[in-house]
Amino acid sequence: MARILPIFASKFIILFSFISSSTIIQLSAAKNHGFARTLDKKILGLNKKEKLTHFKVYWHDIVSGRNPTSVQVVTPKNTTSATTGFGIMSMIDDPITAGPELSSKMVGRAQGLYALASQEEIGLLMVMNFAFIEGKYNGSSISVLGRNTVFSKVREMPVIGGSGLFRFARGYVQASTHKFDLKTGDAIVQYNVYVLHY
Ligand SMILES: *[C@@H]1O[C@H](CO)[C@@H](O)[C@H](O)[C@H]1NC(C)=O
Ligand SMILES: *[C@@H]1O[C@H](CO)[C@@H](O)[C@H](O)[C@H]1NC(C)=O
Repeated sequence: MARILPIFASKFIILFSFISSSTIIQLSAAKNHGFARTLDKKILGLNKKEKLTHFKVYWHDIVSGRNPTSVQVVTPKNTTSATTGFGIMSMIDDPITAGPELSSKMVGRAQGLYALASQEEIGLLMVMNFAFIEGKYNGSSISVLGRNTVFSKVREMPVIGGSGLFRFARGYVQASTHKFDLKTGDAIVQYNVYVLHY
């Protein structure tokens, strides 16, 4: 009996400490309703220094021919301005290449939409993800949301986030038209992307 007692006592202590620690967890979970908690940044590698990456790529908006990469999905019934096309919206799956030619290396696709959002000028609202397929960036993406006055020499738009290698990304892009075919409406735009990420 004397030998059994300490074993029993230690088991009791373990059991008691288990109950009390789970009670503490339950209490704190009750306080934050169990759905949110503060984490150490290290868990996601956010204690590392941010990197700045620059991409110079070309965005191909193909509206003509048999395989357009940009299709108009909204035609306003009654646009207030015929000259600005206010209300028109197009869905895109545009190739992004390393060089200005469509035949050059494809590094990703720009998927999303643009809409004519200005009643005074040709001003697009751009909402798109650059989905990379090349090298270590394969499978990662950045999200661009901004205003694009296509006849300005340089248009700047924010990078509002990303996925994969670009988690917590922020930055901006500068777009400048490389080539615009007045006959077909096809455009090649150079994108300089500056993005901070971990
Ligand atoms: C827009 O539509 C309304 C009726 O739906 C019509 O009265 C008006 O004239 C139209 N405006 C234009 C610019 O076509
Ligand atoms: C990118 O990743 C996909 C899916 O994991 C894979 O099928 C494809 O071959 C990869 N592309 C390149 C260029 O590595």
